[in-house]
Amino acid sequence: MNIVVGVTGGIAAYKTVHLVRLLTKAGHEVTVVPTEDALRFVGTPTWEALSRHPVTTSVHDDVAKVRHVALGQNADLVIVAPATANSIAKITAGIADDLLGTTLLATEAPVLLAPAMHAEMWRNAATQANIQTLTSRGVHLVGPADGELAGGDSGPGRMVEPEDIFAAAVALLAPRDLDGLRVVVSAGGTREPIDPVRFLGNRSSGRQGVALAAEAASRGASVTVVAANVAGDVLAEARHPSVEVVGVETAAQLADAMKAASRAADIVIMAAAVADYRPASASDQKLTKEQGPLTSIELVENEDVVAALAAARTAGGGPTEQVIVAFAAETLPDAEERRERARRKRERKGVDLLAVNLADADHGFEKRDNAVEIVGEGGAIVASAAGSKREVARAILDAVRAMR
Ligand code: CTP
Repeated sequence: MNIVVGVTGGIAAYKTVHLVRLLTKAGHEVTVVPTEDALRFVGTPTWEALSRHPVTTSVHDDVAKVRHVALGQNADLVIVAPATANSIAKITAGIADDLLGTTLLATEAPVLLAPAMHAEMWRNAATQANIQTLTSRGVHLVGPADGELAGGDSGPGRMVEPEDIFAAAVALLAPRDLDGLRVVVSAGGTREPIDPVRFLGNRSSGRQGVALAAEAASRGASVTVVAANVAGDVLAEARHPSVEVVGVETAAQLADAMKAASRAADIVIMAAAVADYRPASASDQKLTKEQGPLTSIELVENEDVVAALAAARTAGGGPTEQVIVAFAAETLPDAEERRERARRKRERKGVDLLAVNLADADHGFEKRDNAVEIVGEGGAIVASAAGSKREVARAILDAVRAMR
């Protein structure tokens, strides 16, 4: 993709150096367009060396190629990082007295701003009004963060880290290939109460389900996340206008919520770790040793939610075009044995795709990274992916797309 990185005059420009590296390493063509002021913080040679493209601030260079509009016209995304209070004011007013100004006026690509300024300047009514105008025009913002600012102050105004800007950019460049589709994802792990303070649970954090929800939303889907005991900071990663969250605790609640949400869904993904059994009865008072030792708990089986959803679809109770994806976390070290188990599980549950992941010290539960193989029609491995849970989410949704 062609990405223009506008740099305006703030000390956070040094962090943009790393952003440009992240973008070029990911294979994008990056053109850096600094303002004159920005060059006081980081000079032309640095930008040219990193982007491997000539760098100029002026509309009078390369006039034959109509550079002042061509950059904007050819861009797939324009990022301004840091975006100072002054540059935000200029962008709002449409002032085009340098190459960055003309580029921003000439582009129809998404624009992403990473504001950086002192907290007072950020809170100032003028800046806030400008931000409101820009967001109402569809300009995207990442940050600012609350933290230490130049000169030792702290407050809102700190530019977010390059990795965060990169993630926001990746999200804006994502294909909108799930536009108009309804996706339901379960995430987290169920808790089956023993008494008011104890439960049978599992180690699922919900990160993979949340990454699937965030990825589906960024590709245009409207998403329902049925979240079983997912921590707020994990859920925050799926914060998006088209993501709705339904909180549940037990397998039975999850089953009800999934059945309700799946009725009109195009894609159903069961990423939650659902307890197969629950205590036959939960005490409504805390169990104490005074009542005698508790050495066993009688269990009863929970419904297999994903199998029930697949059966309802086959019986005509769900949309026939619906694609259903299940997960299986396996600890078998042998890859071929894992695949065989996954094939049997896929058949047994009646799902279209089964993503099998290795749950070991580095992958799976409670870890940031994941590695999956996706078993499809006839037991074929239709895709595999390893990396962040977002990257794995991307591969799973690509496999779903390929099926539809
Ligand atoms: N699942 C479900 N309802 C359950 C148990 C599991 O919907 N009561 C779903 C999970 O969300 C997951 C898939 O089934 O998508 C596989 O879960 P897993 O625990 O691996 O399967 P089990 O049926 O428990 O198989 P086994 O115990 O033989 O590994």
